[in-house]
Amino acid sequence: MAPRWQHAVVTGGAGFVGSHLCTALLAEGTAVTCVDDLCTGRAQNLAHLAGNPDFSVLRADVVEPFDIPRRADLVLHFASPASPADYLRLPLHTLETGSNGTRNALAIAREHGARFVLASTSEVYGDPHRHPQDESYWGNVNPVGPRSVYDEAKRYAEALTTAEAAVHGTDCGIVRLFNTYGPRMRGHDGRAVPTFIRQALAGEPLTVTGDGRQTRSLCYVDDTVRGILAMAASQLTGPVNIGNPDETTMLELARTIAALAGTQATIRFVERPVDDPAVRCPDIGLARDKLQWVPRVTAAEGLARTIAWFREHRGEYATA
Ligand SMILES: NC(=O)c1ccc[n+]([C@@H]2O[C@H](COP(=O)([O-])OP(=O)(O)OC[C@H]3O[C@@H](n4cnc5c(N)ncnc54)[C@H](O)[C@@H]3O)[C@@H](O)[C@H]2O)c1
Repeated sequence: MAPRWQHAVVTGGAGFVGSHLCTALLAEGTAVTCVDDLCTGRAQNLAHLAGNPDFSVLRADVVEPFDIPRRADLVLHFASPASPADYLRLPLHTLETGSNGTRNALAIAREHGARFVLASTSEVYGDPHRHPQDESYWGNVNPVGPRSVYDEAKRYAEALTTAEAAVHGTDCGIVRLFNTYGPRMRGHDGRAVPTFIRQALAGEPLTVTGDGRQTRSLCYVDDTVRGILAMAASQLTGPVNIGNPDETTMLELARTIAALAGTQATIRFVERPVDDPAVRCPDIGLARDKLQWVPRVTAAEGLARTIAWFREHRGEYATA
């Protein structure tokens, strides 16, 4: 079968989700250029692609204008610090990546006549007053809280993408990703799944924030990638939620991971971060109806695969 695209540019391609996107695109015969400054990504996420003649890496900060010499027909804009630990460490870079970085990635799509897909986030819904969240909900975001650098950067990136399509006619789509997990997350990136897995494998107490009753909905990365590529292949502008509506409390998640890891880990309750959302669950009706996309991987299966991967890569990822 002919590939859906000849050449895709993936900004943030050395990151967790981006590296899975590069891998999936190459597997279907699309050449890929990854653009990444490695501020939160890792070269070893792409080690398995080294030597593939269809794959190249441009080490560049998308905040500055960049050039893609070979014609591209798809631009996936995934560059952005994404975990709270990262964007709290890199607040200005996060804002600049969402603003100037998005403008520069859009310019590439416009010059090349390529389809553009922005990786937005469920964080645009903030601490939501509507549950589950569908795309018509405008959100409840604190514009000056510590998380605002990420939330507002993504909200601005959505506005910029929408204006680009209206003013220049660039073919743009927006996906709002809900929490995704899987192999190649960093053990110390502060997100719940890698934190609990790292702690469970080390036999340490699992640190649950607050009383652990806050919920998240976790989507296995293979499902997320399939949803993103379905969006890329469509003509939808979005935004479209991509996530798994299977909602769990953080306490349940910690217990599930401890059980799947086969450890007798205890739970330690720690302080909950400022503006941490109480609930998070996508309404995926739009993705199901317009993209024929639904997640397929169950939590038990996805978590088991992720734990197996962390076990295998313990040395590399335990300290990062
Ligand atoms: N993982 C999730 O659960 C999730 C949820 C919602 C949205 N997203 C979005 O998906 C994208 C990828 O997230 P992730 O979890 O893979 O994070 P990640 O930190 O693993 O990957 C982000 C990548 O972008 C690169 N990057 C950041 N700023 C850059 C810049 N200015 N120039 C070039 N490269 C830059 C980093 O080095 C890294 O490789 C992000 O845009 C994020 O907002 C992810």
